[in-house]
Amino acid sequence: MAELQIKIQSVLKAKTKVTSLKSIKVGLLGIGTVGSGVFNVLQRNQGEILRRAGRRIEIAMVADLDTARAQAAVGKNVTVVADARAVIANPEIDIVVELIGGYGIARQLVLEAIEAGKHVVTANKALLAVHGTEIFAAANRKGVMVAFEAAVAGGIPIIKSLREGLTANRIEWIAGIINGTTNFILSEMRDKGSDFDVVLKEAQRLGYAEADPTFDIEGVDAAHKAALMSAIAFGVPVQFDKAYVEGITKLGAKDIKYAEQLGYRIKLLGITKQMANGIELRVHPCLVPAKRLIANVEGAMNAVMVHGDAVGTTMYYGKGAGSEPTASAVIADLVDIARLHAADSAQRVPHLAFQPQSMSTTPVLDMGQVVTSYYLRLNVADEAGVLAKVTGILAESGISIDAVLQREADEVGGEGSTQTDLIILTHDCVEAKMNAALAQMQALPTVLAPIIRIRKEELV
Ligand code: HSE
Repeated sequence: MAELQIKIQSVLKAKTKVTSLKSIKVGLLGIGTVGSGVFNVLQRNQGEILRRAGRRIEIAMVADLDTARAQAAVGKNVTVVADARAVIANPEIDIVVELIGGYGIARQLVLEAIEAGKHVVTANKALLAVHGTEIFAAANRKGVMVAFEAAVAGGIPIIKSLREGLTANRIEWIAGIINGTTNFILSEMRDKGSDFDVVLKEAQRLGYAEADPTFDIEGVDAAHKAALMSAIAFGVPVQFDKAYVEGITKLGAKDIKYAEQLGYRIKLLGITKQMANGIELRVHPCLVPAKRLIANVEGAMNAVMVHGDAVGTTMYYGKGAGSEPTASAVIADLVDIARLHAADSAQRVPHLAFQPQSMSTTPVLDMGQVVTSYYLRLNVADEAGVLAKVTGILAESGISIDAVLQREADEVGGEGSTQTDLIILTHDCVEAKMNAALAQMQALPTVLAPIIRIRKEELV
């Protein structure tokens, strides 16, 4: 009993100590899905968050064009304005949380907030992928933090893991399912055997895909995130403009089926690797062995594999979007800032994990220099010598074949069909060599349709 009383007293003492610190005041720019998640989670878990942060984190002001809706979301104790600049100009506000999105006004407001000496938290991957260098340089000059855990893989603490948890490692590669919309579409295509267009329409009807899904399905959103992870992993600037980006719009149900027959699943991966001659940075559909954990990440879930020289392969899994998962990441940044904002900026974790003066100039490799293995599907005339011609071109190009699958013509083109699908898996080769071989194969009169090429990664 006496022991219990001592325990209670010490908890109360600790509580008095943390609550005596001045609360840190936050201004939200935009209160849509993520903003209201931040508000609700902060309210619900305020006791726990206070005990962790050491001070109260208070949303003191919100800017949103729809002031009535915003006021209804946060209640009457929070000041709501239509003008985001009023939040930035408020001397009481310590942290500005940018939840507007896009590269336009969001860039201007983030730069103005930094100039006004505010720390910034953002979930805006597009903004940082394109303007990160400018934004981080401005933040370094002003000695403020720009935190962006929510920008990559939503609720998964991948930025924290890369920047801090894996800091002992030479990171060798990262491969992630970092776009939920496309993973949902690919899962549905596999489950239902449907083609891309059919599944996209259904995903839009169910609200899993945006009315304008271009950034998701063309791989742009994943490339934004991959560029950020690449910068943090290798200590290079954020270089979205150098990324190779290919989406899932050309994938057919057929390829998903053939891949499965060969023991693979097709996923849209964001990949970045540190190679001897530079950094690979690419987003494209990819065959992954079906037995890998990441191949079994289904629906809108995200997962990121990171391979470090000391730790080996690690994997992080969770929700990549949504109100509270994203809020979880935003609040983690708020807590970090609450703990560190009085510290000298030299003692904080650098924005891109490496000290700004120690950034590397290692180039991002052109896609032609990338080394990977391939799945090829050729629609060919079902006649003598075709396979020999195709494999002959690969052999002359120094490309080694791993497996060949040929479907019966009847199965491919219906009864009496004179054409068939020839599926080839290759071993690793440099992409430029594969491009040249593909051009030669495509020119064969017995190759009847554009050759489908999908890259393959073993991820070991
Ligand atoms: N649209 C993204 C996705 C979420 O589908 O994963 C935000 O990046």
